[in-house]
Order: sequence, then C-alpha cells, then structure tokens
Amino acid sequence: MKLSRILSNQNGVSRKQANALIAAGAVTINGVACREAAREVDRFSTVTCRGKVIQPGEPACYLMLHKPAGYLSATSDEVHKTVMELINHNLHTGLHIAGRLDRASTGLLVMTNDGAWSRRLTEPEIRIPKVYRVSTASAISPETAERFAEGIWFQFEQLRTSPAQIELLGEREARITIYEGRYHQVKRMFHAVGNRVTTLHRERMGNIHLDGSLTTGAYRPLTETEISSV
Ligand code: URA
Repeated sequence: MKLSRILSNQNGVSRKQANALIAAGAVTINGVACREAAREVDRFSTVTCRGKVIQPGEPACYLMLHKPAGYLSATSDEVHKTVMELINHNLHTGLHIAGRLDRASTGLLVMTNDGAWSRRLTEPEIRIPKVYRVSTASAISPETAERFAEGIWFQFEQLRTSPAQIELLGEREARITIYEGRYHQVKRMFHAVGNRVTTLHRERMGNIHLDGSLTTGAYRPLTETEISSV
C-alpha cells in the first residue's frame, strides 16, 4: 500500500494532510524518514508519524525445511501428514510453501509468510534455478541432455519447458537444473524421454542451498543473505 494511503487510513487524516506530513519529514518507515508519498510499503514495515506508530509491521518469517519423504507440501490435509506438522505452531500464521515438492520427494523446502518474496522465488519468468538430484529406473540415455536443453513440450499447459541442464553422476543418477516449477516437472521431463524418476531431492533454489547440518525433518530461519538473494 502507498505510504500516503496508510496515513490517510487513520481516522481524521485526509490524503492532503497525509501528503503534507510526509513532505515535512514527519513520517518514518522502519526508523528512516520518508518524504515520498507514493512509496509502496509492505505489511512487514513499521510506519510512524511524529513518533506515533501508525503501522506496527508484522514479523516476516522465512524458513528452510529439510523435507522428509512421506509429507505432503500443504498447510493441511485430511489424509496425509503435512510439512506444517514439522513446524512450531507459533510460526504457522500466514505461512505458505514457496515451491512445493511431491510427497515422495525430499530436500529443500522454503516456507514464508511473505507472498511477494515467494512469488519472486518461484515465478517462471524470473528464472531462478532449482537444482535436483534424481535417480531413475533406467539408464539415462545420451539424448536426454539434448532433449532437456531443447525444452520438453507439456501438452496439458501447452508450453515448452525452459532449457534445462543435466549433469550425469552415474548411469541412473543425475543433477538437473530447471528454471520453473511446473506440476511434477522433473518427473514429467524424464517420462517424456522414456525414463522414470525413482528418487528426487532438491538441493538448491537460487542462492538458497539446503543446509547440510539440517537433519531430515529439521528446519531453520533463512539468513539475511539468503533472504536478500531473492
Ligand atoms: N519435479 C517433480 O517432478 N517433483 C518435485 O517434487 C519437484 C520437481
């Protein structure tokens, strides 16, 4: 919301008065005076006017979970265990998953209450690399790298996936980098080349690497560097 609007939402403050207060330097965002009435302010920022708190600023929460197999990437479900059950209740408010993993998949799962931030991490247009380690049922054929680099046609969405890279780690094991997060994307890409994924583990999203010290099912807050890398 624009700064002038946050101020004029206060009882008895007109838009004109709000603009005058802002121009006079009476308004701060997170402790810093802001003279720009049109500045977009998120709900995590604290806004004051002449020392009085107008918007307290909600605490933002950014977590990485080492997701175990068998947990659904959802906030609630009537049948299956969900990843939310692994997170302390006090952190649940507004928390959502930034890039789901299938129930059987493991590895890096990022959760936050900041919708604008999670959109930047997951939107296909922003092309943040997502890196997975996969094992497959059959040997990975030599044409796989070429087909993935060309992009795989997804009939249901009527689109071609962005060029993806694959690094062979063994006959049936590879590291794959994709730039979107379409439904079952990695599994469907391997299916398109006549193979089948048997295990899938996410190692990284952009500059956020799964912390090697997190045991399966454990989580930690993201660092300032990780948050600002998105
Ligand atoms: N692609 C998949 O097929 N499954 C996942 O969990 C993540 C990416």
